[in-house]
Amino acid sequence: MQYENLKIEITDGIAVITISREKALNALNSQTMLELRYFFSEAGLKIPGLKGVVLTGAGEKAFVAGADITEFSGLDAAQGAAFARRGQDIFFLIEHFHLPVVAAVNGFALGGGCELAMACHLRVAGEKARFGQPEVNLGLIPGYGGTQRLVQYIGKGKALELLMTADMIGAEEAHRLGLANCVVPAGEEVAKAKEIIEKTSAKAPVAISKIIECVNACFEPGTDGFAKEVEAFGQCCNTEDFREGASAFVEKRKANFQGR
Ligand code: CAA
Repeated sequence: MQYENLKIEITDGIAVITISREKALNALNSQTMLELRYFFSEAGLKIPGLKGVVLTGAGEKAFVAGADITEFSGLDAAQGAAFARRGQDIFFLIEHFHLPVVAAVNGFALGGGCELAMACHLRVAGEKARFGQPEVNLGLIPGYGGTQRLVQYIGKGKALELLMTADMIGAEEAHRLGLANCVVPAGEEVAKAKEIIEKTSAKAPVAISKIIECVNACFEPGTDGFAKEVEAFGQCCNTEDFREGASAFVEKRKANFQGR
């Protein structure tokens, strides 16, 4: 696929995806969503030695200012539901990606942009980051998982407040509430996200992917997360990396994991 709106740079095994529609504050139009789907369901699975993915927005003003309002203003109920389902499916791919995906939030993360950041495994907030779900200003509700994931991160009371008032919160408040994992000076978001991925990539890859699966299972209706953890623990026990990790501990040396 030819990317029009995503710029993808792979350096030292880390893919940095920059959503590049700066004039529209990187709003997610359907082409951008298609490109995200393609990366997280196909292209990203075939990159040799990939350690993780950083998602960020072009320019200094916005991470992503939401779904592209100009594209969905005329939808009827059935079309609107299909639009939301399609977006949720794509964000589900990100949430379930087998490697860490870190949002480097460099400015406005509103509506679908906040939802995109929440679908990532971790969020690094630059000090100019602003998070919010302003859909009620448009006569809407979030459609890309915002009513669910915001509750998961910050709890029901605060989530209801942000969803119903459309208030934006800054980086420090997002950090205090548990929405952002850390706050860094503006311009250092991607570097910090890469640093986190370097750290996770020194751990056993199978264990990292099982952590992602099991934590996601916690929020999946009908999935028994404890049973999933038991199964995944057993699978990890069966890896060469577990034997290597245990030997390295006993021998007081750094483990050299191979991802099998
Ligand atoms: N969709 C399409 N275009 C957008 C956009 C969006 N979500 N957000 C910003 N833009 C465009 C603006 O229309 C403007 O374009 P023009 O220069 O052609 O007029 C350009 O980006 C710059 O924006 P502003 O002039 O508005 O910049 P500002 O600094 O005055 O305000 C802002 C910045 C507060 C982020 C404001 O742009 C804004 O409120 N944007 C909309 C935010 C929003 O409502 N997001 C939720 C969308 S709905 C959604 O996401 C549903 C879902 O859950 C899937």
